[in-house]
Amino acid sequence: MNDLNKFEILECLHGKNLELEDIVVFQSIDSTNNFLLKEFKGETRTKVCLAEYQIEGRGQYGRQWISPSHRNILASLRFTLPKNHSLNGLSIIMGLAVLNTLKDLGINSLRIKWPNDVYVEDGKIAGILVENRVVLDSRIIVVGIGLNWRMEVSVMTQKIADISGIIGNKVSRNCIVGRLLFHSIQLFEDWKTIGFLPYLNAWQEIDYLYDKHVKVSMGNEEFVALGVGIDSDGALLVKYQGEIKRIFSAQVSVLE
Ligand code: BTN
Repeated sequence: MNDLNKFEILECLHGKNLELEDIVVFQSIDSTNNFLLKEFKGETRTKVCLAEYQIEGRGQYGRQWISPSHRNILASLRFTLPKNHSLNGLSIIMGLAVLNTLKDLGINSLRIKWPNDVYVEDGKIAGILVENRVVLDSRIIVVGIGLNWRMEVSVMTQKIADISGIIGNKVSRNCIVGRLLFHSIQLFEDWKTIGFLPYLNAWQEIDYLYDKHVKVSMGNEEFVALGVGIDSDGALLVKYQGEIKRIFSAQVSVLE
């Protein structure tokens, strides 16, 4: 198996004109998100950090993201926006970028569990952690993607899916990263100018939570509701006691 390599990734991009500043690759690092959050020097184009292993990989809601060396694609992308730019829908857009990457590889039955966990049937194949900070007059957004490439499915507690389990090794990891960067940067640039509304219709077909009973946990509050879609701000819509509630940030799990 080839290690991740900046030049092979660039070759797979076939000279596509992307707003890409640079790609750095580590064999081992604490967290690719931490790296990009710490080393901002005012770049306006997208900087990418990749690693084969993370010592302190971070997931959503303060959880750890654990992956043996070379088994995930561990990628972070740092985007820059004016500090007052709306972030509505960005988290979902990044899930769509991962979904488009997997579609390119020939993977079907893809859906997204709001806001951005990517599923193949009932197995999670990718998780995304979006973090942002204001630095001087800019807002930096670091999008960390953990994409299962070849995991030992039997040791995982949660049902998961991985790329090589579905399509084998026919596409190199470097080319998978190339596709991921292409879709992520392109969708980010489009979202920056046209906003989230044009993507709303696409959501209906890929909504993992639609018409499912879900448990919503927000701080001390917890309730069971029915998933009924999302709105133009990217908020999750659930039906609870006959009324539609908008959820902006919560842990949501599907009831069996
Ligand atoms: C989730 O909990 O579903 C999100 C997981 C995000 C993991 C990725 S791996 C690359 C980047 N670096 C981190 O520390 N976390 C993200």
